[in-house]
Amino acid sequence: MTTPGGTPTLARTRAELASALAADGSSRAVVMTMGALHAGHLSLVRHARELADQVVVTIFVNPLQFGAGEDLSRYPRDLEGDLALLTGEGLLGAGDVVFAPTPDVVYPDGNPLVRVSAGPLGDVLEGAVRPGHFDGVLTVVLKLLHLTRPDVALFGRKDAQQLAAVRRMVRDLDVPVEVVGVPLVRDADGLALSSRNAYLSPDERVRALGLSRALRAAQDAAAGGAPAVRSAVRAVLAEAGVRDVDYVALVDPDTFVDVPDDRVGETLVALAARVGTTRLIDNTTVTLGGVA
Ligand code: PAJ
Repeated sequence: MTTPGGTPTLARTRAELASALAADGSSRAVVMTMGALHAGHLSLVRHARELADQVVVTIFVNPLQFGAGEDLSRYPRDLEGDLALLTGEGLLGAGDVVFAPTPDVVYPDGNPLVRVSAGPLGDVLEGAVRPGHFDGVLTVVLKLLHLTRPDVALFGRKDAQQLAAVRRMVRDLDVPVEVVGVPLVRDADGLALSSRNAYLSPDERVRALGLSRALRAAQDAAAGGAPAVRSAVRAVLAEAGVRDVDYVALVDPDTFVDVPDDRVGETLVALAARVGTTRLIDNTTVTLGGVA
């Protein structure tokens, strides 16, 4: 295991990355991010630290996964702040790598003609609201896996559909990497940490708490089954003044197919809503029915 201390290598080009990757047979973990790092990202890095000798953190705002009219141009970027967070707590040290390429490094020929398709998983929920989003995510994830060649890649449960799509890609395309899901990290008030929380005004932030409150209500209603959970979530969102709801979905955690009303067992409750102009997602796992 790398001894914390020292400074990680900052690689901006493919060549810098290639020469920073350990070639001595030690294990490597990768954490992919779009930067504007917060405690959720750092939790992934902390888990990575425990799983491998060398940790590579990628910081890249991937244009391919943003739709027209989304927040690509205003997405928060703060490489210096990110590096300070990664080194400040001794999470990364000498021997580790931060790969922060520009779009022309990742896409030297412009937008790729050949892309990964997320299939049906890419068409529902986030994929329905953001067409092409998961194709863009999987394409960059596969490229970054090729460039960093890790043994383990860590993804947060905050983006549950993304985690499911990455797992499915790795299985379906025989990508030689182990995918590890890391629990969702929340602020003390319950709000799921997200780089996009920076967009929220103080008033909007209070309203945004409706999402996590709705998911706690989902937990409380789970014994009553899927219809009870749906109405509990909707009621809390309405009461919190979260009106612009993209979806409240109860789905199978692996396939993201909607569960029937008589479903019993583990189910993902996923929701997405706009608070002001900020789009937020959150989710939790419940055990439906049958449990008193
Ligand atoms: P980004 O939104 O920066 O998230 C990077 C990783 O951090 C993802 O795996 C995400 O699920 C995880 N993460 C974010 N907030 C979290 C939280 N509150 N708790 C736990 N994990 C959290 O997801 C992306 O970037 C991109 O799509 C990427 C995979 C980097 C491809 O471009």
